[in-house]
Amino acid sequence: MKPSVRTTVIAGNWKMNMTPSAARDAVRETAALTAGKSGCEVVLCVPFVDIPAAVEAARGTNVKIGAQNVHFEKKGAFTGEISADMLLESGAEYVIVGHSERRQYFGETDETVNRRAKAALDAGLKVILCLGEVLAQRQAGITEEIVSLQTKLDLAGIPAEQMKDLIIAYEPVWAIGTGLTATPEQAEEVCAIIRRVLAGLYSPAVAEATTIQYGGSMNDGNAAQLLAKENVDGGLIGGASLVPAKFAKIVDAAQ
Ligand code: 13P
Repeated sequence: MKPSVRTTVIAGNWKMNMTPSAARDAVRETAALTAGKSGCEVVLCVPFVDIPAAVEAARGTNVKIGAQNVHFEKKGAFTGEISADMLLESGAEYVIVGHSERRQYFGETDETVNRRAKAALDAGLKVILCLGEVLAQRQAGITEEIVSLQTKLDLAGIPAEQMKDLIIAYEPVWAIGTGLTATPEQAEEVCAIIRRVLAGLYSPAVAEATTIQYGGSMNDGNAAQLLAKENVDGGLIGGASLVPAKFAKIVDAAQ
């Protein structure tokens, strides 16, 4: 049983998929299929240019819209970047920071992830902060050290009062887009480690109240077992979130 102080959040990360018109249709369909499912929060994190269409399609439904990254400066000469204020005014409520694809392909470090998280929280966005070990680290038996360090570095300087607006997504990099999923036991073990780190950084109460998602090939077939674990409070879903019927089944599993 999960403590009732925590909100279960099922979030889709569409990555670089869907044009604005496709996004409108997919949000409408997702909203229709998840209507009335009040057992969890439902979020779709969409490409920047899809945000207006997605927000419009989600209006009056239980689907919330998020972005997939945000810059740490408020404005200025940062070609190609998007600020937290821009996201807010476009209607986004959530933003992902620190996704492993950003770290792997776009040079994000714990320092830039931390700065992005701070900027987003200060502006009033809710943050989904991703972290997780790569395969070589798991095989070397240093998952706990890696995940603990990422948690500490990525949250550095974020005060306890802002933790109510921050979700941690544990995404083992070896399970992302590979079809390989952490077992429920592996997911539980690492989510519990992250919660212990939060208790040390903040307090047991903050740790107990923080939503910790699992991400990495979560789908309609394995979601129920993963979500049944005490410390797994939701999912961040890539591939399966692109198919509203599959995503809706994951939302069902969270009820
Ligand atoms: P997949 O569900 O496609 O493995 O992606 C997970 C992920 O990266 C979510 O952010």
